Amino acid sequence: MTNSAPLPATLERITLRHAASQSELDIYPFGATITAWRSRQAANRSAKDIFFLSERADLSGKQAIRGGIPIIFPQFKARPDQTHGFARTAMWNILKRSEDSITLRFSHTSTGVTNWPHPFTFDYEVTLSESLRTELIITNTGATEFSFQCALHTYFAVSHIDEVTVAGLAGLTYTDKVARRENCTEASSAFAFTQEVDRIYFNAPDRLVLRDKAHAIILHKTNFPDAVVWNPWSVKASEMKDLKPDDYQRFVCVEAGAIAQPIRLAPHGVWRASQLLSVSS
Ligand code: BG6
Repeated sequence: MTNSAPLPATLERITLRHAASQSELDIYPFGATITAWRSRQAANRSAKDIFFLSERADLSGKQAIRGGIPIIFPQFKARPDQTHGFARTAMWNILKRSEDSITLRFSHTSTGVTNWPHPFTFDYEVTLSESLRTELIITNTGATEFSFQCALHTYFAVSHIDEVTVAGLAGLTYTDKVARRENCTEASSAFAFTQEVDRIYFNAPDRLVLRDKAHAIILHKTNFPDAVVWNPWSVKASEMKDLKPDDYQRFVCVEAGAIAQPIRLAPHGVWRASQLLSVSS
């Protein structure tokens, strides 16, 4: 059981480097959370780092890191009384590492500290090049089927919330968690942020584009049917201890996920999904 190990006084942070593109990435084994991706392609543009990491993020290992790419598993918080699961606060082991790639593993037994009764292994392969690829490989190591939800809760840094749009959502059915309405249809081909947004889009296309003032991020997802778009706006942000009240202006979350139809995994079954992020002008 990896997440029952005592936490070190200071959490370990690993930096990967891709020499050809002069890009760097920081990742914490705590939660297997990538917290920064410094890409030369975005240098001298509006976004310094591709990812937002809150100045108030708790980096002590007591709670999920607010920013970068926390991993949501085995459940997505569909209601306020639920959480995004325990993977983002578990201590992961390093399986393989090179200069520009790392694989971390979270192994869970049925007798672990959480009340999740199903054993599994969860491998997370991170590969840095001109783009950033993250692959999730979940294996049922137990004797009974289980089902789960999963998402990559990516916080993208933006020059200002007024400047960004998300393309790829038009015509999709979504649940609006703010308005508490289901079966809504997205009308906008360039979705802009003017208030709190918390939406789960179903059967989203595999290519979504987050456009900022001077650059765009292409999110290409594989085997993640859904997409979540979240920004807490001013009131919610000021209620959150690990955000500054005006931080809502500095990020948007666009999350690739398997949410609407939980994935059913038979004994020895393996599920894979991935996300490829790239920056373009
Ligand atoms: C989003 C959810 O994925 O994450 C929101 O749709 C939630 O409802 C947000 O508020 C942040 O969640 P948390 O647990 O990291 O505060």
